[in-house]
Amino acid sequence: RGLDDLAKRAGLLYFGTAIDNPFSSPKAVDPKYQEIARNSHEFGQVTPANGQKWMYIEPERNVFNYTYGDAIIKPAKKNGQMRRCHNLLWHSQLPDWLTSKNYTKPELLSIMENHIKHEASYYKNECYAWDVVNEAFNEDGTLREDLWLWTIGPDYMEYAFKFARKYAGHGTKLYYNDYNIERIQNKSTAVVNLVKTFRKKGVPIDGVGLQAHFTTGSTPSYEDQLANINRFNSLGVEVALTELDVRVSLPDSPEKQAQQAKDYAASVKACKDAKNCVGVTVWDFWDPVSWVPGVFAGKGNACLWAEDFTKKPAYYAVADAL
Ligand code: XIL
Repeated sequence: RGLDDLAKRAGLLYFGTAIDNPFSSPKAVDPKYQEIARNSHEFGQVTPANGQKWMYIEPERNVFNYTYGDAIIKPAKKNGQMRRCHNLLWHSQLPDWLTSKNYTKPELLSIMENHIKHEASYYKNECYAWDVVNEAFNEDGTLREDLWLWTIGPDYMEYAFKFARKYAGHGTKLYYNDYNIERIQNKSTAVVNLVKTFRKKGVPIDGVGLQAHFTTGSTPSYEDQLANINRFNSLGVEVALTELDVRVSLPDSPEKQAQQAKDYAASVKACKDAKNCVGVTVWDFWDPVSWVPGVFAGKGNACLWAEDFTKKPAYYAVADAL
C-alpha cells in the first residue's frame, strides 16, 4: 500500500505531492522520480510547483501559455490523480510587464479579472481546488504591502475570490493559502477573520490551505495544529495541508531524521484527526528536487525520499500516522 491508499483508508480525500517542471527543476526528468510521482497509490493528488504561476501562464499581457501547467495537470488526470491548482493571485513570481509598471486601480482590476478569467476557465473542471490567493498576510496579521494592496486596496482578495467563482464555477473549491498559519497566532487569526468577513459579506471561500513548511524540531505540536484546524471547522471551511515539508539543518544525522519523522507524523495525524481536514500534500517528495536548499541556506533533506530513492524514517512515520 502507498500513502494515498492509507490516507483514503483513514478517511482523507488524498495524500498528494507537488511536482515540478524540468525547466525549473532539471532533476525532475529522472525516470525513477517520474515513476513515483505518477504512482497513484503513493500520491492521489498532484500540485504543479510552478507551472500555473502568473509569470508562466501570462508571460506577456493577455498572452496565455498553459504548457507548463498542462505538463503536470494532464498526466495527473490520466493517472486518476486529483489536482490542486496553484495559484491565481500572489505577490511573487509575477511577470515583468506586471511589476515594472504602475497601473491604475481600474487597470489592475481588469488585469486581475482577465488573468483569472483565462486561467480558471481553461482549467475549469480540472482542479479539485484552486489556491485563489497565496500568502497575503504578514506575520503580525496585517496585509502584505504588495501591488495588489497598494493599487486596489484591502478588498482586493474579495475581487479575486469572486472572479474565481465566476470563472472556475461551483465545482472547484476556492482556497486561501499561506505559511505560518498552522498554529494559533496573529497570522492564522487574521485568516480566521478573513473567512468571517467573507462569510458576512457573501464572498465565496471554501477552504484554507496550511502550507506547513516546517523546520525539524520547531514544528507546531499535534495538539496546537489540531486546535488551529478546529477554528476553521467552526467557520464551516475545509482545510488542507498544502505544502508540507520538514527541513533539517545540514549536515543531516540519524537523530535529525528521527525528529523529522516525528514532525511529519504530528502534522499528518492532526489532519487525519480533524473533521474538516481533507488531505495532505508534500511540497515534493524527493530531496534533489526540493525548493528548500535553494531558499534556506544550510537547510535541506526536507522530503520523504532520500537522494538514492530510499524511503526515510519520515516516510514510514507518515504511513504509520495514517
Ligand atoms: C516555490 C517553488 O517550489 C520554487 O521552485 C520556486 O522557485 C519558488 O516557489 N510557498 C508557495 C509555493 O506557495 O508556490 C512556493 O513554491 C514555496 C512557498
